[in-house]
Amino acid sequence: MGKVPFDVNNTKDKKAEFSLVQVKGTWKRKLGKKASDGRVDRVSAAKIYESITDKGISWTVVSPIVFTYKVTETQNILDPSNDTLLLGHINDSQQLEDIKKSNKPLKRFLVIDQEVQKIYGPRLTEFLEANKVQYKILPLPTTEENKSMEMALEIVKEVNNFSLDRRTEPIIAIGGGVCLDIVGLAASLYRRRTPYIRVPTTLLAYIDASVGAKTGVNFANCKNKLGAYIPPTASFLDLSFIQTVPRRHISNGLAEMLKMALMKHRGLFELLEKHGHMLLDTKFQAVNNVYGCNNLQAASQATRTAIMTMLEELAPNLWEDDLNRLVDFGHLISPALEMEVLPSLLHGEAVNIDMSYMVYVSQERGLLTEEEMQRIIRCMVGLELPVWHEACTMELIQRSLQDRLKHSGGLYRMPLPVGLGQAEIFNDTSYEVLHRAYEKWCDELGMSSKHL
Ligand SMILES: NC(=O)c1ccc[n+]([C@@H]2O[C@H](COP(=O)([O-])OP(=O)(O)OC[C@H]3O[C@@H](n4cnc5c(N)ncnc54)[C@H](O)[C@@H]3O)[C@@H](O)[C@H]2O)c1
Repeated sequence: MGKVPFDVNNTKDKKAEFSLVQVKGTWKRKLGKKASDGRVDRVSAAKIYESITDKGISWTVVSPIVFTYKVTETQNILDPSNDTLLLGHINDSQQLEDIKKSNKPLKRFLVIDQEVQKIYGPRLTEFLEANKVQYKILPLPTTEENKSMEMALEIVKEVNNFSLDRRTEPIIAIGGGVCLDIVGLAASLYRRRTPYIRVPTTLLAYIDASVGAKTGVNFANCKNKLGAYIPPTASFLDLSFIQTVPRRHISNGLAEMLKMALMKHRGLFELLEKHGHMLLDTKFQAVNNVYGCNNLQAASQATRTAIMTMLEELAPNLWEDDLNRLVDFGHLISPALEMEVLPSLLHGEAVNIDMSYMVYVSQERGLLTEEEMQRIIRCMVGLELPVWHEACTMELIQRSLQDRLKHSGGLYRMPLPVGLGQAEIFNDTSYEVLHRAYEKWCDELGMSSKHL
């Protein structure tokens, strides 16, 4: 008989810690921290803490869950000889070898943004046919206005009809951030968690929506109000999709890139300041000798730095338990602004207007010099991003910040640049500072923003 952890007759509170060990297929609890001996097959990282009081018994389960996901750059993902889309998520070399040897056709369910389907649909079909995949492609109008639970359920219904093996046949999402967010949520709901793969086709999705764990849809007129923190199994990044993205949407993605630059990376800021306009012109594609610099190198450096800095902030805080997040820069006021004027501002545009105002707040607080502030605004204008909007009123700013207080543990947790490429989180920005910054922001950018 095992050691009794406590005396049940003793009414004084008793606590015991159990490890979990597996012996011949059966999990058993084992008293104490030292769980391993020769007869044990496996030791779990989970623990059970038992507590007995005179009110009764309580078990506290601590079960660490590890998410592993890959963010992989690839080229020509739709080239039939490139197997990344079908097999790039598999880490186990034995499993990979077995699949390659087997004659069983791969089965894949793909959701694709309807507009992306118009351009890349024929190549996608050719790719799947050439690889003898059993597939279903579901093209959907994944616009911000349609980013809803209804669309997530429509996907789930089709997935259910297709009948997937949820362990080995990931759902593939191909499109911008809206498509990736909806499909991610649908996959997280289907059979409680079905693996999914993200293939971003816009710049914003490439450097941002593909990199983290968040999925979601809009609800009750609020952005991403319903969602889950379930990362994809893998994100496969192919810059060549960006060549067909409309110019305005490239600027939109550059806003999220600029956010990471302002928060964390002076080198990225200087790159955007110097080459941002060229990246916009060339859509992150190779164009020889036109710009007197290797533009593909700049594109690669910019996207890789944006992704790396983003991963540094997200990986230790995948479920956003820590509310002090630099990646929230530009996201304090923009959600309300974006929803207020939907669909006239794109996500990155609303983020940029928020960042532009916050740069004025920083300057007003003495965290940025006038010259640094002007450099940032000039850079935003060079990236063809809006720096002011009439719907971004002091009333909307105050309402957003009140909301922030409510959802952020009673603190503003306001990320602000403190120089170029560095930032800190502040909780003590006064109404007077916010107001003075607002007046100056409107005076300098409001009237003239159309001519900047
Ligand atoms: N999950 C996250 O962590 C995360 C992060 C940032 C943003 N987001 C979400 O992402 C969304 C914005 O994403 P977005 O900016 O990619 O918008 P989007 O998905 O609406 O795509 C923008 C437009 O580009 C078109 N398009 C997409 N790829 C194309 C291509 N290769 N060629 C031509 N046209 C193409 C689409 O049809 C659409 O009209 C927002 O809903 C935002 O909440 C999520």
